[in-house]
Amino acid sequence: MSHPPYVIDQMISAKSIAARIEDLAREIETEFAATDKLVVVGLLRGSFVFIADLVRELRLPVEVDFLEASSYGDGTQSSREVRILKDLRATIGGRDVLVVEDIVDTGHTLHHVTALLNSREPAKLKTVALLDKPARREVDLRADYIGFEIPDEFVVGYGIDYGQRDRNLPFIGKVRFTDG
Ligand code: IMP
Ligand code: MG
Repeated sequence: MSHPPYVIDQMISAKSIAARIEDLAREIETEFAATDKLVVVGLLRGSFVFIADLVRELRLPVEVDFLEASSYGDGTQSSREVRILKDLRATIGGRDVLVVEDIVDTGHTLHHVTALLNSREPAKLKTVALLDKPARREVDLRADYIGFEIPDEFVVGYGIDYGQRDRNLPFIGKVRFTDG
């Protein structure tokens, strides 16, 4: 896609993200202290940086798996349609599962994914989102664990993209369009 000119203003530093992930990991360890081997499911592609840092903080036996759902096209408009593009390799019936999402916006993606995974009857299913944008919610849903609540801004970095750009930024920044 073509990009109108924009700049990125830092919103959450790499240091703040790392500190918050340490706290989230301690809470998640408590939640799953009795679990044999936790299935940690990253939602592609936006969660790949978050899940990498999160699992390295978890002092728990984990299995890492990925699921790809698409809700956005290549722009900033949310669509209500959610498609599963890549399913899990793991069988999750009777197991404990943690779904890792980059950002919960309208809530449609996480709603659809948790409904799908719950239909496979895991023993326990919890969700963690690095970012939560409650202002734009269209489905009544909240992640069990949230890194940061943010205002209604379009953000990039730390795995999150704008038209497949800026995922590699080490911090979370907000997109600001400039003239020209
Ligand atoms: P939802 O289905 O509207 O909750 O959208 C969730 C997905 O939309 C996230 O996993 C992101 O991939 C994408 N998304 C939502 N907000 C943003 C944003 O501010 N920047 C980039 N992607 C976003
Ligand atoms: Mg996503």
